[in-house]
Amino acid sequence: MASDTGGQRIYIGMGTCGLATGAEGVLTAVHEGFDKLKIEVPIIKTGCIGMCSQEVLLDVDTPGRGRVTYRKVEPKMVEEILQNHVVGGHPISEMAFGQIIGEGDSAYDGIPSYQDLPVYKKQKRIVLRRCGFIDPDLIEDYIETDGYQGLEKAIKTMSPEQVRETVKASGLRGRGGGGFPAGLKWEFCANAHGDQKYLVCNADEGDPGAFMDRSVLEGDPHAVLEGMIIAGYAIGASYGYIYCRAEYPLAIKRLLTAIALAEEKGYLGDNILGSGFSFGLRVKEGAGAFVCGEETALMASIEGRRGMPRSRPPFPAVKGLWGKPSNINNVETYACVPPIILKGAESYAAVGTEGTKGTKVFALTGKIINTGLIEVVAGTTLREIIHEIGGGIEEGRAFKAAQLGGPSGGCLPAKLAETAIDYDSLIQAGAMMGSGGVVVMDETDCMVDVARYFLKFTAAESCGKCVPCRLGTKVMLGILERITEGKGTEEDIANLKDLGENIKSTSLCGLGQTAPNPVLSTLRYFEEEYHAHIKDGKCPAKVCTALITYKITDNCTGCTVCAKKCPVEAISGERKELHTIDQERCTKCNMCYEVCRFDAVAKE
Ligand SMILES: Cc1cc2nc3c(=O)[nH]c(=O)nc-3n(C[C@H](O)[C@H](O)[C@H](O)COP(=O)(O)O)c2cc1C
Ligand code: SF4
Ligand code: SF4
Ligand code: SF4
Repeated sequence: MASDTGGQRIYIGMGTCGLATGAEGVLTAVHEGFDKLKIEVPIIKTGCIGMCSQEVLLDVDTPGRGRVTYRKVEPKMVEEILQNHVVGGHPISEMAFGQIIGEGDSAYDGIPSYQDLPVYKKQKRIVLRRCGFIDPDLIEDYIETDGYQGLEKAIKTMSPEQVRETVKASGLRGRGGGGFPAGLKWEFCANAHGDQKYLVCNADEGDPGAFMDRSVLEGDPHAVLEGMIIAGYAIGASYGYIYCRAEYPLAIKRLLTAIALAEEKGYLGDNILGSGFSFGLRVKEGAGAFVCGEETALMASIEGRRGMPRSRPPFPAVKGLWGKPSNINNVETYACVPPIILKGAESYAAVGTEGTKGTKVFALTGKIINTGLIEVVAGTTLREIIHEIGGGIEEGRAFKAAQLGGPSGGCLPAKLAETAIDYDSLIQAGAMMGSGGVVVMDETDCMVDVARYFLKFTAAESCGKCVPCRLGTKVMLGILERITEGKGTEEDIANLKDLGENIKSTSLCGLGQTAPNPVLSTLRYFEEEYHAHIKDGKCPAKVCTALITYKITDNCTGCTVCAKKCPVEAISGERKELHTIDQERCTKCNMCYEVCRFDAVAKE
């Protein structure tokens, strides 16, 4: 018979990142371990706690001792963890990442506390506070952690106007990119005339490198629902839609479960908590077009029309879904609302900068050690994010730049690492907060190639409705491609700047208005790299293949490996003698560089 292990609990990270690295296998191994050891411990399947690079994460929580996190767990490690830690009471410190020490817990020796880990020390979690701590499929977990109390307070003790005023006073600005004050937007919609009002949640999240919204939906879906229901009450909407890309199946599944459970418990549906206020919600799946994240295109898509932006005004607050006044906010914006209502505007506004209150969630990707999800107080510097929380650059290389705000944003160079991350400072620096994607680049990244990559994305995603965006982005892309192939001219730089400014000022929607940003910001901070490609025919980062020459140096031992691997037989030489490359034949596939164990292949 399975034995009780004294109130212990096991947590397994089962967000998309955990599942992608094998969380299902670890879960199976845990069940097998239970059978073998004749124990039974409750398992909490959580969303992502933020440390995607360390998945699969498995935690053992012991009453009075706290919760120890094991990282990069594989099925074969599970039995040892169960045997030593769960049964024996001795954590395996060499495998442990850190421990979460609760009030009254006596910490284990030799395992760092989360509070001392650089990746956590500088974070402040408001939106992500439950991610990694609750089972998102259990509404009881949400309720036990203050869930739906903000809603209860709003509909039972506050008027819709008081709710709006509270959100206004908190200083909350939309987290979807534009940073428009949320309370003010709610007021516009509340004051608009209409027999029916709608609420929309933008969970399209199309930017490359962004996964903040997905993680919130997977890890704490009720927080978004609660924020939406409160917003619905505040503006007088009775129905809402969550527009979520179909490429997020787990987020959609968790949302549907959360909606059904919230309805069952009376937090959603008719006469919510006996207040007389009714609100219904449904999920609408989007097909993954970046432009469908633009609010008017998104609403057209919900209505079943082609997702194309239209000119504004009228803004959605006046004429939105099916021509009715509608309020649209981002996932993170809604998730900020319950704590604002529950704890008051001042508590939220107490942190942040003058123009950007509260916290912001960022997705860290690229050449950074701690790839994953973080939440920091607005105003935290780029240096703190990259070097402290992010752990710095992989393999000790130098930090070169960070692309903030996805394809609409800009590249900030290392010399601006002290820039405070808030809406206004970033705009001043030529970047933008965007929705929170941070792609980190090091000395091995070519800034012309980075600009080309982002422009290729926006040119392909342009809906084609207006000429500057449809054709202008393609012309800019053509110029960038020529430069990376070594065929650029000096006039190209002036043309890129000119075209970029024109596309920004004449495009209909935000896609075209921001598409040139990666090009303009790399020209602003890295113009010398463009000149190196054009004038010297060199790619300083050695990324643009057309501008690289492969040479074999005196380090060559004549091992013959490269000659055998070269797909076009461009390498010749006798065994134990210096090899050479036939430049005419070489297709610059990089194979010889990768296979040489003697550091004898140089890229020039
Ligand atoms: C091309 C394009 C894509 C966008 N994608 C998103 C998105 O994925 N998620 C989002 O919340 N906002 C996105 N936006 C911004 C929305 O149009 C809108 O401003 C936002 O959802 C409003 O919510 P907020 O005020 O809470 O930020 C996008 C805008 C443009 C122009
Ligand atoms: S700016 Fe681009 S995406 Fe926006 S409407 Fe014009 S063509 Fe379409
Ligand atoms: S793999 Fe390196 S060492 Fe071996 S022959 Fe090629 S260049 Fe020389
Ligand atoms: S880069 Fe590729 S094609 Fe060129 S010599 Fe090396 S292996 Fe051969």
